[in-house]
Amino acid sequence: MKRINFAHLNLSPESENRIWAKAKALVDRNGFILDNEVNAFEEKFASYCNAEFSVGVASGCDALLWAMEGLGIGKGDEVITVANTYIGTVLPIIRAGATPVLVDCDPSTQQIDPDQVSSAITPRTTAIVAVHLFGRLAPMNALLDIAQKNGLLLLEDAAQAHGALYQGKRAGSIGKAAGFSFFPAKNLGAWGDGGAIVTSDAALAKKIQQLRNYGQVKKYVHTHIGWNSRLDSFQAIVLNEKLDFLDGWNNNRRQIANWYYEALKDANLNLYFETKGNEAVHHLFVVTSPNRDKLQEKLTENGVESGIHYPVPIHKHECFADELFAKNKKFPFSEKQSNELLSLPMHPNLTESSVEKVSHILRYVE
Ligand SMILES: Cc1ncc(COP(=O)(O)O)c(C=O)c1O
Repeated sequence: MKRINFAHLNLSPESENRIWAKAKALVDRNGFILDNEVNAFEEKFASYCNAEFSVGVASGCDALLWAMEGLGIGKGDEVITVANTYIGTVLPIIRAGATPVLVDCDPSTQQIDPDQVSSAITPRTTAIVAVHLFGRLAPMNALLDIAQKNGLLLLEDAAQAHGALYQGKRAGSIGKAAGFSFFPAKNLGAWGDGGAIVTSDAALAKKIQQLRNYGQVKKYVHTHIGWNSRLDSFQAIVLNEKLDFLDGWNNNRRQIANWYYEALKDANLNLYFETKGNEAVHHLFVVTSPNRDKLQEKLTENGVESGIHYPVPIHKHECFADELFAKNKKFPFSEKQSNELLSLPMHPNLTESSVEKVSHILRYVE
């Protein structure tokens, strides 16, 4: 199996040594499950997000699932989200027992289109999942407004946006609750799977702490139908260490994005700039062009790896055949994105000369 190259996420030898020393101590005290390292990370991450609570869970998918279950979203409910996201946004809606209702993206921002959200509301709608795609926040003011006017819950899928800012507010601190992923390639990635729910609702945080641990309030007392979905103690050690470097890495990503913007300004492709008050953390650097396949071929010929996020819009996945989205299967902008977008190399250690090399190749494709 081809492995994703996570080499760019390597820490300094000092950091790694700190992790190994803490891991040895963890093993020595049998702290494998829900050790204090997990609480320490939860507190630190909540504070980083400017929220009251964070609850560590097994993955980003689980984070969204527990946020919804904790809020009582389930059978009979419709949850609106966007068609050009990763499948990890939509599966938790289905697992919670609710029905996902897709809307298209705004082609100028690649983010969920609030007007379409408004049009998709029915008496069964209970929530909106705003996806902060590629490291840039969804149009939260408009979505908050819609949620408020219609009595809906607004959740954030912040799996790609650790540290991003929207009018001074951190991703994860704006909606009722947010789901984060710590998949290794994320801006804040573990050395395995992991996720967290961030919220400032104390009752919700408490319920999710129980849900992720068999629904138990104390040993052998189960008040909810939960599951085993705890953040691993070892991953909490890694995340605790890495969180100290997140802002620095995000600043590097911002610098790299600026190099791309400059180097590609005359290239024959579409760039997506930051808008005022929406400070992206560039989880991915995505351009679009009708010539995408040729651009990607040229990059590959020159030994440059690129990606497509995502080649299949949600409603076209085989697993959702027919019944789920049958009523409304056309999302032209999301489909166009799938056919035209290209993710260029982006990681915190990318050099200016690498950006120039990639941009040079792209500039000369007819
Ligand atoms: C937008 C989005 N939502 C949800 C997820 C699910 O996260 P995980 O892979 O940790 O379950 C991911 C990550 O892969 C993602 O990118």
